[in-house]
Amino acid sequence: MLERLKEEGRVRSVGATHYSRSAFPQLMDVMQSGRVDFVQVPYNAADVAVADEVLPLAAELGLGVIVMVPLGSGRLVRNAPPEGDLRPLREFGVETWAQALLKFVLSDRRVTCAIPATSSPERARENARAGEPPFFGEEEREYVGQLVRSR
Ligand SMILES: NC(=O)c1ccc[n+]([C@@H]2O[C@H](COP(=O)([O-])OP(=O)(O)OC[C@H]3O[C@@H](n4cnc5c(N)ncnc54)[C@H](OP(=O)(O)O)[C@@H]3O)[C@@H](O)[C@H]2O)c1
Repeated sequence: MLERLKEEGRVRSVGATHYSRSAFPQLMDVMQSGRVDFVQVPYNAADVAVADEVLPLAAELGLGVIVMVPLGSGRLVRNAPPEGDLRPLREFGVETWAQALLKFVLSDRRVTCAIPATSSPERARENARAGEPPFFGEEEREYVGQLVRSR
């Protein structure tokens, strides 16, 4: 049905998603079928399982990647490090821990976008600012990973 709607110009992109690492082999089969334009997968500074195979395959096939649970469903963002620990990230436009976590995933060039959920318009604006360059290099991404692991 989605393919028919796409042919009719009523749907632009078709995607597939799964939240569990155990389903990634099946998800990769779907990716290789040529029938999807996008995948939606979990990715955050505490869960980088997709980096092993799913993201490399998406890049190879030229598929879009939507990142779900970039804040660990709230768990990571609630467990914030002391404000001073964000100082090395300020030059990247990071003012809050949520922005550091979002910039972690958005700085991976294989990622197209992230979909953090929030019930607060002010937080939506705060989160959106993490989509602005400059983006992190490997050093800053490793630093954010360390901050998460130290919590
Ligand atoms: N395809 C799938 O299988 C699948 C599975 C799971 C989730 N998803 C999708 O992924 C998206 C995100 O999932 P999620 O809600 O589980 O995880 P998330 O985006 O990682 O975390 C959302 C939580 O973070 C908090 N938050 C957001 N911005 C914040 C900020 N700036 N400061 C402090 N706290 C902040 C929110 O609380 P407040 O509301 O209080 O701000 C909420 O509790 C959703 O759109 C969901 O539909 C898809």
